[in-house]
Amino acid sequence: MSKRIYSRIAGTGSYLPEKVLTNDDLTKIVDTSDEWIQSRTGIRERHIAAEGETTGDLGYNAALRALEAAGIEPSQLDMIIVGTTTPDLIFPSTACLIQARLGAAGAAAFDVNAACSGFLFALSTADKFIRSGDARHVLVIGAETLTRIVDWSDRTTCVLFGDGAGAVVLKADEETGILSTHLHADGSKKELLWNPIGVSTGLDQPGKILMKGNDVFKYAVKALDSVVDEALHANGLDKSDLDWLIPHQANLRIIEATARRLDMPMEQVIVTVDKHGNTSSGSVPLALDAAIRSGRVGRGQLLLLEAFGGGFTWGSALLRY
Ligand code: COA
Repeated sequence: MSKRIYSRIAGTGSYLPEKVLTNDDLTKIVDTSDEWIQSRTGIRERHIAAEGETTGDLGYNAALRALEAAGIEPSQLDMIIVGTTTPDLIFPSTACLIQARLGAAGAAAFDVNAACSGFLFALSTADKFIRSGDARHVLVIGAETLTRIVDWSDRTTCVLFGDGAGAVVLKADEETGILSTHLHADGSKKELLWNPIGVSTGLDQPGKILMKGNDVFKYAVKALDSVVDEALHANGLDKSDLDWLIPHQANLRIIEATARRLDMPMEQVIVTVDKHGNTSSGSVPLALDAAIRSGRVGRGQLLLLEAFGGGFTWGSALLRY
């Protein structure tokens, strides 16, 4: 009987633009305060892409680090998937641009747009290709320059977002890796968090993020509660089996609510929102890479990743690292 194939994380990497914008810096742009931002969101600072620095640049640099950590050459990649909602171009995809720079000729390359859940949607897609035997090595990237679509005169949104990228290299392995992924969406809530600019709808809209923060907050907490329950139930696991929660980094209060649902002390939760803000698709792989490189997350541990974003979209990945 042939053995079951899993996707395992062979290596991770991340990249943040050099420029840091603190809460105090923001007080010079909009009517806000460090105290308000920290108490409502947990954010202290965020990184901002330099002029001319693109999502593809951030994703490429994160990818180089992930490939190095995995000990895998670009020529070994079968597929590159980029989760992003701020692609460099309408086409080709950011994944194609990164594929060319890496010299991974022939590897399939495409973007996935699921807003802040983009990385988990990309990871889940990669996992399916590996489990089916159609791919052995897949580079999965979450990369964003969300500050490019922020309305810098809107204090209710501009304080929340940052730029950055994270990446993982998945490889086919007989040892347990990703145990499950679960993805969901509810398009009927699109106007609670969206950017109404489009191509086929016309380019005459403002093209900035619009959000009803209170509604998003409530919906996110409920959806994340249900998706973490779903992940544990599907694997016959108990909350106490988890070693780490690696959540989407949008708001510390949302993260704390999910941790409470799982009876997890905050010592078992990876938090980077204070330093990164909400980097959308970049946030989960950035947090994962920070946790691995700092030595907190180790091989063999059980990790629960989750995310929620515009669409609405939400999802989870339960994996043994
Ligand atoms: N600085 C100072 N005051 C601000 C402010 C800012 N940056 N942004 C909003 N305010 C004000 C509002 O104008 C409002 O003032 P008012 O009472 O005089 O009208 C007051 O603060 C409270 O606003 P409210 O929207 O009720 O605050 P909140 O406690 O809900 O926090 C968010 C706002 C955005 C932080 C919160 O709703 C949130 O995090 N939502 C989820 C957003 C999210 O994570 N989105 C991405 C999902 S991927």
